[in-house]
Amino acid sequence: EESQSFYDAVGGEEAFRRLVHRFYQGVVTDPILMPLYPEDDLEGAEERLRMFLIQYWGGPSTYSAQRGHPRLRMRHNPFVIRSAERDAWLRHMHDAVISLALPDDLEKRLWDYLVYAAHSMVNAPEV
Ligand code: HEM
Repeated sequence: EESQSFYDAVGGEEAFRRLVHRFYQGVVTDPILMPLYPEDDLEGAEERLRMFLIQYWGGPSTYSAQRGHPRLRMRHNPFVIRSAERDAWLRHMHDAVISLALPDDLEKRLWDYLVYAAHSMVNAPEV
């Protein structure tokens, strides 16, 4: 179908569930990132990122129903994000994207967005 959303094209909720789960499996091993995340609510963090990405790509808008407007830059203000944090985040996200084994065009669209979004989340100068 011509108007099929990206969400449907990649395989719906299941694909995003696998993507974000794989990403967090990397985060928990990462000495740069792990201190930033809430130790006692990693499942919640995983759910929030999954819901956001699902909504962004045309799936159900459960994220905004539960969390309101994304305002992601503002929500990341409590965390110091320099190029080191950005690159660590992208490294685990890259593993996760590759693990989905999507068709090249879909993989590129997803990855290009994540790179762009991660660069826009940097909020602190280099030391
Ligand atoms: C939340 C770190 C980039 C989407 C968080 C949290 C941390 C974090 C520590 C709090 C976890 C929680 O309790 O939910 C980072 C770092 C990044 C990054 C170090 C490096 C650039 C991104 C990008 C996106 C994103 C590129 C979107 C494509 C989100 C979302 C939440 C979140 C949706 C939950 C917001 C909420 O509803 O409270 N991030 N993040 N993050 N992040 Fe990131």
